[in-house]
Amino acid sequence: MTDLQDLVDRASRIVFFGGAGVSTESGIPDFRSQDGLYHMQYKYPPEEILSHDFFFRETGEFFRFYRDKLIGYEASPNAAHKKLAELERAGKLSAVITQNIDGLHQAAGSKRVLELHGSVARNTCLRCGKKYGLEEIRRQEGVPHCSCGGIIKPDVVLYGESLDDGVIAEAIRALRSADLLIVAGTSLAVYPAAGLIRYYRGKDVAVINLDPLPLPSDAFFFQGKVGEILGRIKA
Ligand code: APR
Repeated sequence: MTDLQDLVDRASRIVFFGGAGVSTESGIPDFRSQDGLYHMQYKYPPEEILSHDFFFRETGEFFRFYRDKLIGYEASPNAAHKKLAELERAGKLSAVITQNIDGLHQAAGSKRVLELHGSVARNTCLRCGKKYGLEEIRRQEGVPHCSCGGIIKPDVVLYGESLDDGVIAEAIRALRSADLLIVAGTSLAVYPAAGLIRYYRGKDVAVINLDPLPLPSDAFFFQGKVGEILGRIKA
């Protein structure tokens, strides 16, 4: 039985493709697990709240949910984030591709992080384009406004919005030249993000997930918590 350490030892250009399950051990709920965001009861379905149309139609309600559920956590990197940063420093990992918007990979020290769905750390005034950090959104109450009076919108990809072409191109480049793909903490339910892994050309695929995933039959599946499993790996 090939174990994860063997796969890591024989790779030199690892690409990690992760989702919300990578941050649950930091205290941030995921979306589709039983205790995930999409199973919580709100006035509107969370997938509707996190959409482009809802942002502009019910901006106050959007920010109530956003503050409570997406930036309401004082989360810190867990063993998974830290190990990936260590593998990058060791020259073994070429990129982290994440669907998460929490910035925890960078907080753990990872340098090449491709954020397919943007980040709560980046916020832009819709009127003048001025940039703000997360602290400005936290400092204000209700709908955050720029000094020019415009509304500040988080640079996160909402349903109905497109992903950044540059980030997609970089993710495809990394996947094409990788020799080990590790897919972890994701349901692979959301496109186009989930579809990017088809650009991987290497032989070895490792999946680390609590729930089984619909993946190629020759993928190595390690069922369990990604923080625990990656935490045991030696870079
Ligand atoms: N270790 C390993 N796997 C875990 C852990 C953990 N500690 N915690 C949860 N998981 C698994 C769950 O079993 C589930 O399969 O992670 C997966 C999380 O799936 P989702 O909640 O669907 O999250 P994700 O795949 O990132 O969702 C993709 O959906 O709403 C959009 O933009 C949002 O980026 C998000 C996208």
